[in-house]
Amino acid sequence: MAYYVTTPIYYVNAEPHLGHAYSTLAADILARHMRQRGEDVFFLTGTDEHGEPIETAAEREGISPQELADRNAAKFEELMPIIDATNDFFIRTSDPRPAEQVAEIMQRVYDNGWVTKGTYEGWDCPRCADFKTERELGPGQTCAIHEIPLERIREENWFFRHSAFQAQLEGLYEERPDFVVPDFRRNEAVSFIKGGLEDVSLSRPTLKWGLPLPWDPEQRMYVWFDALLNYVTALRFARPGEDLSERFWPADLHVMAKDILKFHAVIWPALCMAAGLEPPRRMTIHGYLLMGEKKMSKSLGNVLDPFEVIERFGSDALRFYLFREVSFGQDGSISTQGFEARYETELANDYGNLASRVLAMVARYRDGVVPEAQVDAVLMEDFEGAPDRLAGLIDKAELSQALEAVWTLVRRLNRYVEETAPWVLAKDEADPARLDEVLYNLVEGLRVVTLLLIPYLPATAETLLAVLGEEGRGL
Ligand code: MSP
Repeated sequence: MAYYVTTPIYYVNAEPHLGHAYSTLAADILARHMRQRGEDVFFLTGTDEHGEPIETAAEREGISPQELADRNAAKFEELMPIIDATNDFFIRTSDPRPAEQVAEIMQRVYDNGWVTKGTYEGWDCPRCADFKTERELGPGQTCAIHEIPLERIREENWFFRHSAFQAQLEGLYEERPDFVVPDFRRNEAVSFIKGGLEDVSLSRPTLKWGLPLPWDPEQRMYVWFDALLNYVTALRFARPGEDLSERFWPADLHVMAKDILKFHAVIWPALCMAAGLEPPRRMTIHGYLLMGEKKMSKSLGNVLDPFEVIERFGSDALRFYLFREVSFGQDGSISTQGFEARYETELANDYGNLASRVLAMVARYRDGVVPEAQVDAVLMEDFEGAPDRLAGLIDKAELSQALEAVWTLVRRLNRYVEETAPWVLAKDEADPARLDEVLYNLVEGLRVVTLLLIPYLPATAETLLAVLGEEGRGL
């Protein structure tokens, strides 16, 4: 079956930081897991290159928005293989190909009667590229996310008739209890909708760096419209001469943090309906990586550079750490000290030592040949059905719980080593079959956990599986 997973497309006003890598890794874990299950996967990521945040950042640097976009998009694109992300395409919204498709879709929204003219008066956050409603304001008319003062503006704008979709959106949420996971995020979206929808301004008269509105080219499109549409347009041109929409739309899962919940959970399905497109199937909302108490964010100046982190710890260690340390869905603090601790106690000790002990014992006691034997009854309970349990958790986007479930098996194998003490059995020539059985079970257990760990630890798993005679499984 087809499985289409996406990340947000990231703003190119700055270089990538670990927060961006985090969402991309979450999507990569899902993509790799689904490939392992034999699904036909398409994994999309990319960069969001229009709009005020990029225009002002470029101005500050005295370069054109396109130059800034090219420079930073290249950094994001470079990051993908470094974190071992297996995206099938990287979309850049300043590419003329999505622009053509966006014009076509937005013209359809206009023709369908879902656009009107009006005046916007209110608060604007230039960093979010978002007009804020009164209930979203931070203390003293500030942006609750960026902690900067908001600008009061009044503009003649085109509006998307979002309010016309109130009943349909409520219906969508009633019909699909898992449209947004986790549940508490779904509740936020529902209460936002129930609070009453307002029309959304879709043009910016003062903006230069944006797509022209097809029916009024003097006005530029509010960046969020061309951004959200990336999920649809990428399928139309990612493979030259082929339109993947039929195969992959509607998307199975959009991955993002809570900062952009409203756009995806409230505006996006309505825009799809207005354009005659099916809304996506599901989205999963994760928390923030924090440094100390604060969200890691370029504008707050507290970012970890993923390139540096990987140079120091390696990509697998980063992937492992992020999904162990921070419970997926919740906010969580990270630190370089934390990395070291997790690396030592879990990756190196629990798993690394288990693998090297098991391989060493097979080499020493059985000349490197894994004996034939049966599954030990004491391991049955833990191992039987483990892949299905894992799949069930991943289907609910419970990425940390899924990893914990595998880690329980790793710990179980370590206990099995202690319980069976193969080094004692090796001295007891009277019962070689028992040693055969224990070694077989250890190798088999190691093989199973390693297969289950592929999405989280792709490089390590591939190396170990090659030693265990299972080459080419690194999906
Ligand atoms: N361009 C928009 C998204 C458009 S999607 C149609 C945007 N870009 S962004 O560069 O600000 O990226 C926001 C996303 O980056 C978050 O939703 C999250 O996926 C990721 N993160 C950025 N900082 C993060 C943390 N500190 N922690 C976790 N995720 C973070 O919004």
